[in-house]
Amino acid sequence: MISLQNVTKRYGAFKAIQSISLNIKPGEIHGIIGSSGAGKSTLLRMMNLLEKPDDGDVIINNKKINHLKGKEIRNIRQSLGMIFQGFHLVGNKTVFDNVAVSLEIAKIAKKNRTERVMESLRFVGLEAYKDKYPRQLSGGQKQRVAIARAIVNNPSVLLCDEPTSSLDPTTTMEILEVLKQINQQLNVTIIIVSHEMEVIRSLSERVTVMEDGQIYEVVEIEPTGVNKSKKGAATFVEQLKSGGDSNPS
Ligand SMILES: Nc1ncnc2c1ncn2[C@@H]1O[C@H](COP(=O)(O)OP(=O)(O)OP(=O)(O)O)[C@@H](O)[C@H]1O
Ligand SMILES: [Mg+2]
Repeated sequence: MISLQNVTKRYGAFKAIQSISLNIKPGEIHGIIGSSGAGKSTLLRMMNLLEKPDDGDVIINNKKINHLKGKEIRNIRQSLGMIFQGFHLVGNKTVFDNVAVSLEIAKIAKKNRTERVMESLRFVGLEAYKDKYPRQLSGGQKQRVAIARAIVNNPSVLLCDEPTSSLDPTTTMEILEVLKQINQQLNVTIIIVSHEMEVIRSLSERVTVMEDGQIYEVVEIEPTGVNKSKKGAATFVEQLKSGGDSNPS
């Protein structure tokens, strides 16, 4: 699966990620939580080399990938789907064509694309929307299209960066349900970044709590308990361990 070994990322003199090591287990839903600027997105983006580490190794299925270039990286990315807070759909393409883009990039023959696109759209419940444009969809529907695009190449991993942070609570729960189904029915390992405790708690089996570019603690989720009120990463850890559901302030 994915393994980060002593990865460091600098922006100029600033260390956004400081020598982090983390092993993702096959099949798990792994949460990453922490305050704004903690390095969550940077860490996630190193897993598919959208960010290259300055030091350390990114290892996928026992193979170091951080020294790979262009075409080889693009090939590996096909097994690593990704979704974002802002959906990143193409405005002048239909729902169908937005999903088909992934197959085009993977050089899947045109005649084989339709069935796979429709299968993905069916999975996220948007078959009937195939000819609509992104502007005609709600936020939740846009994220479903982005999810369909991310799973159409049958990835083994889905990387999610704040996938519900611009959605209302009801739509958030619906999207989390879709992610659970992807994990359980399609056997996709999920790594989800969020600053929302409820999102992380409801989905994850293990959670990496980050602070200042480092891992504060990796927590195994246990059900139920009470909430405490401390500040910072300690609060995240306590809430994860106790089952509390309010955000730290
Ligand atoms: N391209 C960049 N150039 C310079 N600094 C950057 C760049 N990307 C991130 N940083 C800095 O690295 C640190 C970590 O950023 P990152 O986006 O990973 O945080 P985050 O935990 O995802 O925060 P948020 O919850 O706000 O999304 C921040 O201090 C950020 O300002
Ligand atoms: Mg972020």
